[in-house]
Amino acid sequence: VKKRSWGVLRWTWRLTYLSVLGGLGYTAYGIWQNRNPVEQQEPDPSKKTLVVLGTGWGSVSLLKNLDTENYNVVVISPRNYFLFTPLLPSCTTGTIEHRSIMEPIRNFLRHKKASVKYYEAEATKIDHEKKIVYISDDSDIKGTISQNEVPFDMLVVGVGAENATFGIPGVREHGCFLKEVGDAQKIRKRIMDCCETATFKDQSPDEVKRLLHMVVVGGGPTGVEFAGELQDFFEEDLKKWIPEIQNNFHVTLVEALPSVLPMFSKSLIDYTEKTFKEETIEIRTKTMVKNVTETYIEAEYTDANGQKQLEKIPYGLLVWATGNAVRPIVKDLMNSIPAQKDSRRGLAVNEYLVVNGTENIWAVGDCAVANYAPTAQVAGQEGAFLARLFNQMAKTEEIESKLKDLSEEQGKAPNKESRDKVFEEIKDLQRRLRRVKQMGPFEYSHQGSLAYIGSEKAVADISWLTGNLASGGQLTYLFWRSAYLSMCFSTRNRVLVFMDWLKSYIFGRDVSRE
Ligand code: FAD
Ligand code: NAI
Repeated sequence: VKKRSWGVLRWTWRLTYLSVLGGLGYTAYGIWQNRNPVEQQEPDPSKKTLVVLGTGWGSVSLLKNLDTENYNVVVISPRNYFLFTPLLPSCTTGTIEHRSIMEPIRNFLRHKKASVKYYEAEATKIDHEKKIVYISDDSDIKGTISQNEVPFDMLVVGVGAENATFGIPGVREHGCFLKEVGDAQKIRKRIMDCCETATFKDQSPDEVKRLLHMVVVGGGPTGVEFAGELQDFFEEDLKKWIPEIQNNFHVTLVEALPSVLPMFSKSLIDYTEKTFKEETIEIRTKTMVKNVTETYIEAEYTDANGQKQLEKIPYGLLVWATGNAVRPIVKDLMNSIPAQKDSRRGLAVNEYLVVNGTENIWAVGDCAVANYAPTAQVAGQEGAFLARLFNQMAKTEEIESKLKDLSEEQGKAPNKESRDKVFEEIKDLQRRLRRVKQMGPFEYSHQGSLAYIGSEKAVADISWLTGNLASGGQLTYLFWRSAYLSMCFSTRNRVLVFMDWLKSYIFGRDVSRE
């Protein structure tokens, strides 16, 4: 028996060794292949021109799954990279470096079978009748031409959304948003600026208090995750290296509704609020910000007697995370289509994501209104759906044109035998055509919601068989980490994020102000 157990052990060891070796070999081959792209097929001018606006979750998911050899694909976006937004809050404190969650769009497109044209530009107007997109290069370096027109046969609008301010005065001038890489960099800089200015020689106690008051407006997942990351930064690094600030550094989360994270289940909302209390993050619910100045916000809350009161809350850093608003280009397109007149939150689309009132324009992600929450999960699934749809449309066209040729051939067939042969081919193609055309409308499959809440805890509402699994705590945090690591765009991103986590764990976060 002992001998047999040794044999089993030896074999288990050999198999483990081989699978690790195989895994490493596979990863190394993947990296080599990624660095050495093969020659790409040139686009065929007789094919339809498919213009894709944006390089976010929706558009990139479409491009990832699209057979580009079927169309002349043109991508237009002012951002020449894809951004993995779920880890953006971690960039505000330096837990993760921003480049680790960016994937250059050029590298990605260079690996498609047929080449794709990319213009770094903003689409400024869409003429749906003339089928033209007007584009403008708004980057710092401009050539002799910085504005142009791009005609399309098919158009996908995936331009996302902009930050909602609800017209509240002072938000744009004094607040920081958290949507793009530049926003995270600005916040990181301001946190350090507030700390250093607060410790300036002879700074008054009131001013120190103000400068070290970090206010986050909006108790959705963006606000909650940022507040958690910021408190971690303070607990684990800032108070160690700048001990003078430890009695005054304070994070407050302001939310207009009665609770934070309204999309999560009640037990997880309670868990988040309890954890924030333990972390000493103050939550001010039922408090609506009405005005923002350079040094304080004015917020309306209801007091114990049910009376509305206006309060001035001084701040050093203000992060504004109150959700999405429609981009001007989308608003403009909506105004030019009568069928969109009742739509407010974005482009109303049908179940195949076609923009209502048009035939050859589709919309994905945060700029589309398809009755789902504006999340990366929805945008990604919509993009993948459109890729399948377009691949199928191309196949349909190919089969239909073959069928047309075969019918002509059948008419010209010299004898019954060749006529029957063609007839069989036609029947076969018709069967294929029926199969290809069997594509149902878009259906969203919700995998669950995840959010980091600080002090190595996360909350998760996961769709589980027929029900829902709500969990919160440190195990969920490990799940959060592994889920987001596996969802990173590329192996390169995965390795970089993992190394950033390791670096922060071993050396702590960097407290220098760039
Ligand atoms: P985006 O990803 O915003 O991409 C829009 C693209 O369009 C960009 O490339 C932009 O440069 C480009 N663009 C803008 N204007 C123009 C123009 N005029 N012409 C051409 N191109 C243009 N969702 C989740 O499901 N899970 C999460 O954990 C999560 N975390 C998040 C964390 C943060 C901090 C934020 C801000 C969002 C998070 N989200 C998350 C939401 C998610 O990021 C969005 O729902 C998702 O990015 C929407 O994808 P999109 O393709 O519609 O837009
Ligand atoms: P949100 O729309 O989810 O939340 C914004 C919050 O701000 C709301 O609760 C609203 O009541 C509050 N608010 C609005 N105006 C206010 C005011 N004047 N004063 C005080 N509070 C005010 O926005 P968020 O968090 O930016 O998220 C946008 C989208 O991205 C959502 O669909 C969200 O689900 C998704 N997202 C998902 C994440 C995740 O799954 N982990 C992380 C971040 C975003």
